[in-house]
Amino acid sequence: MILPGDGIGTEVTREAVKVLHRVAGKFGHQVSLSEGLLGGIAIHKTGGPLPQETVDLALKADATLMGAVGLPEFDNVAPEKRPERGLLGIRKALGVYANLRPVRSYKALLDASPLKKELIDGTDMIIVRELNGGIYYGTPRGIFEDGPEPRAVNTMVYTRSEIQRVARMAFHLAQNRCKKVTSVDKSNVLENSQLWRRVVTEVAKEFPDVTLDHLLVDTTAMQLILNPRRFDVLLTENMFGDILSDEGAVLAGSIGMLPSASIGDRKPSGAWVGLYEPVHGSAPDIAGQNKANPFGAIGSVAAMLEYSFGLREEAAAVNRAAEAVLNSGRVTADLKPSGKPATTTEVGDAVVQAI
Ligand code: IPM
Ligand code: MG
Repeated sequence: MILPGDGIGTEVTREAVKVLHRVAGKFGHQVSLSEGLLGGIAIHKTGGPLPQETVDLALKADATLMGAVGLPEFDNVAPEKRPERGLLGIRKALGVYANLRPVRSYKALLDASPLKKELIDGTDMIIVRELNGGIYYGTPRGIFEDGPEPRAVNTMVYTRSEIQRVARMAFHLAQNRCKKVTSVDKSNVLENSQLWRRVVTEVAKEFPDVTLDHLLVDTTAMQLILNPRRFDVLLTENMFGDILSDEGAVLAGSIGMLPSASIGDRKPSGAWVGLYEPVHGSAPDIAGQNKANPFGAIGSVAAMLEYSFGLREEAAAVNRAAEAVLNSGRVTADLKPSGKPATTTEVGDAVVQAI
């Protein structure tokens, strides 16, 4: 099921869907797609950011591919009426608790990053962000105007089982990579992080082949820039992961490059429940101009093929094609400080052709 959402979300999903049809055709698979409303467009058409119909379709679908949500006209409205609330709602409705955000440096983009080449070259990590809990969902929450002055409350809450399941996902991923998990918290200040650290340490015992270390989130923010190659799997809670993954985008050259996979439990078929979305937002400043970088959305298609359908070869074909286009220099303006940039459509067409 496709949820284009708002702003550049519709433009990048259009390219991602072209790529999906092409790879399916090439490998002899049938795709049947439904489309739903989410975010600002859903508010305009139905009055709310997450219509029940969208939830029903997503629950029925084998996988969901999303663009981006958010429109500037909702900037000053209450959180529960914003487009972003639709995204949090669908993440929760699908129960996708582990958000996988791979961050790597690309040779062709080493110059696109403002960071020194020798620092970022060879970066290859995956951020595992908890996605169904923490301060994003905790209650009580709200702005309370009943006292002598307004008071705002958010609550950061995690249970042991919520920490365990996402930690296990991180350790499983590490087993197929460099076998190292770095768990990020703020346990020098927050009780919530103290429980996080304790439970992650317990889970680590189930994976004796994987090394675990712990880092505080402020130190991590610094280490990501100073020594990004030290990270293999970075495991953290919802809000820390939101913040650190945008920082990670600088290592990749542009936030437009980053795909993400949000994974829940396994279905009886063995496939993972999954919601796939680029890490970038709806970018109202460039929306409708055919300028957005579709690589994050295309990479999300590859992740979907791999995790929800177990189609590794097909996923690799998409990634290889995207990388070939990247190396050929046909890239959008965010990756091209000088020279004529390609349009969103041209990049999508080039990837389709390269498959
Ligand atoms: C992200 C985004 C979302 C988040 C917003 C749009 C709600 O920033 O996916 O990183 O905070 O999770
Ligand atoms: Mg974010």
